[in-house]
Amino acid sequence: MEKKTNNLMRLLPYYKKYTILCVAVIILSLGYAGISLLSPIYEGKMLGFFEEFNQNEIIKTAVLLLIIRIVIEIVTNMWSRIVLKLNSKVNLDLKKNLLESLTNFEIKNFDHTNSGLFISRLNKDTTELAELFDFITDDLSEIILGVSFIIYVFFLNIYLGIFLILNLLIISLLVSKKISVYKKVRKNYKEKDENLIGLYTDIVRGIREVKSLNLKSVFLNNINHQQEDTIQAEMKSIDTRRTWNRWIAAMQHFLDFIYILLSIYFIKHQSLTVASFLIIFLYKNKILIFLNCISELREKIADGKISATRVFDMMDYQSFSKEQFGNQSIEYLNGKIEFQNVSFCYENELLFENLNFGIEPNQMVAIVGKSGEGKSTILKLMHKSYSVDKGKILLDGIDINKLSEKSIKNNIAIVLQSPYIFNLSIKENIRLSKMNAIDEEIIEVCKKAQIHDDIMKLENGYDTLVGENGVILSGGQKQRLAIARALMKQSKIILLDEATSSLDNENQEKIKHVMRDLSKDHTVIIVAHRLSTIVNADKILYLDHHSIVASGTHQYLMEHCSEYKKLYEIEE
Ligand SMILES: Nc1ncnc2c1ncn2[C@@H]1O[C@H](COP(=O)(O)OP(=O)(O)OP(=O)(O)O)[C@@H](O)[C@H]1O
Ligand SMILES: [Mg+2]
Repeated sequence: MEKKTNNLMRLLPYYKKYTILCVAVIILSLGYAGISLLSPIYEGKMLGFFEEFNQNEIIKTAVLLLIIRIVIEIVTNMWSRIVLKLNSKVNLDLKKNLLESLTNFEIKNFDHTNSGLFISRLNKDTTELAELFDFITDDLSEIILGVSFIIYVFFLNIYLGIFLILNLLIISLLVSKKISVYKKVRKNYKEKDENLIGLYTDIVRGIREVKSLNLKSVFLNNINHQQEDTIQAEMKSIDTRRTWNRWIAAMQHFLDFIYILLSIYFIKHQSLTVASFLIIFLYKNKILIFLNCISELREKIADGKISATRVFDMMDYQSFSKEQFGNQSIEYLNGKIEFQNVSFCYENELLFENLNFGIEPNQMVAIVGKSGEGKSTILKLMHKSYSVDKGKILLDGIDINKLSEKSIKNNIAIVLQSPYIFNLSIKENIRLSKMNAIDEEIIEVCKKAQIHDDIMKLENGYDTLVGENGVILSGGQKQRLAIARALMKQSKIILLDEATSSLDNENQEKIKHVMRDLSKDHTVIIVAHRLSTIVNADKILYLDHHSIVASGTHQYLMEHCSEYKKLYEIEE
């Protein structure tokens, strides 16, 4: 699925936004390299003065070296501060954009993708990408320093200069080989890591089921197995890198040995001074750092390419589809809904074929039928969580695909079958639907949803934190809070999917009246298993074999639809 484009180039606009910071970082890196090169030059000179023991010159050079080193520290410090600032800005921009793309994905992308994939890309990959410039400039200044040093060696002795170049070529070849092997094992580790994060998320979110169904050992076995696999993959990637590093270092030691033999020859033939030999030998460490930097830089770029592919794959909707909306904007819908020859399938499984029905504004309509018939799916299609494959859904006579996201989402409120309650206070949860809602409005909707009295019994009332997915609330309280949240949206169309299934009869009866009341100026669509809760609906759609086999009032269906009658009588 991954495209073979160089996604690393996609990072450029992120840095372009902070051109001044980038330029400052580059100038400071170059400055660091330039000033650092003065060190070996003056140290070489000082060694020469020591040979002659010229005390005055030694002191002068030592003072100069002190100044050079202090300047290096100052430049390094400035570089570090600016590059960190740049890092954090790019990191934030990447995370923001990626999160925005994620919220624009079609819901179906979440049905079959491990959540670990999203979390790991959002969290780890963006951070790795943002750090790339830091590493590149850090390594680049060392590389420039190394190159300048080689040029300096050429001035001291041309043959040693050529030897150093050969040295670099040999090591670079080994580094190339290392990178290609490392890239493969690293990618394998990252894929395993994504799956593991998904499993962690599952066990943490599903811990109550895990405990109550005594699934601990099943989960632990599975997770331990995957953990072991992931840790092994990570170890393999670290081991591969380290083993190759050791081989490369061993090769460098061997080349150092040859360098000493060559130097003996040149000193004997007086084409190299002992001071120059010592300086080159001492600074060969720098060449090693330089080689490490090349290797590290290539590793980081290889890692960066993997991260960039994973981040921009999401950000550019390469493997994930984006929700599509039209641009027709309607502030207030009247609330008429029509399904015309609607066909829909999940993945490749056909669920509806030529589904037809209409709902008038301000009607209260119920959808009933056995489990798995597609009642929830009808609501999700009305709300455009999923798009139809064939046919049309019309809202006020306008094709839903032509309407803007705002027109649909602001005009339709839905209470899902298992609503998600956010880990906020009760008040904040309701305010999500209307950010500027005043306390009185919040209390009003809570009274309508029959949850106000329950909230008042809590120690902190409306300010009570409800925990992850409203863990401190009962099933029925969660449902009523979700209803209050939907009512707060003040949308024209209200969709309730089994929204009162966990309520006691008394509360259910009260909400039934509230809904009846609401349907005076709202279109209300209710999915319910308990038929007694919807007998007063204006119209009931009876689903069987994924199509509407009968529709009408309760009275009409009792007389004309034997299946419905049977269902109702079982309940009695
Ligand atoms: N995201 C999905 N991906 C694939 N198949 C799905 C998905 N959601 C639902 N289905 C399938 O579509 C069919 C209809 O599901 P739906 O949730 O609409 O039924 P329902 O009538 O609401 O059932 P219930 O009364 O149990 O809530 C079921 O067979 C279900 O397995
Ligand atoms: Mg359902």
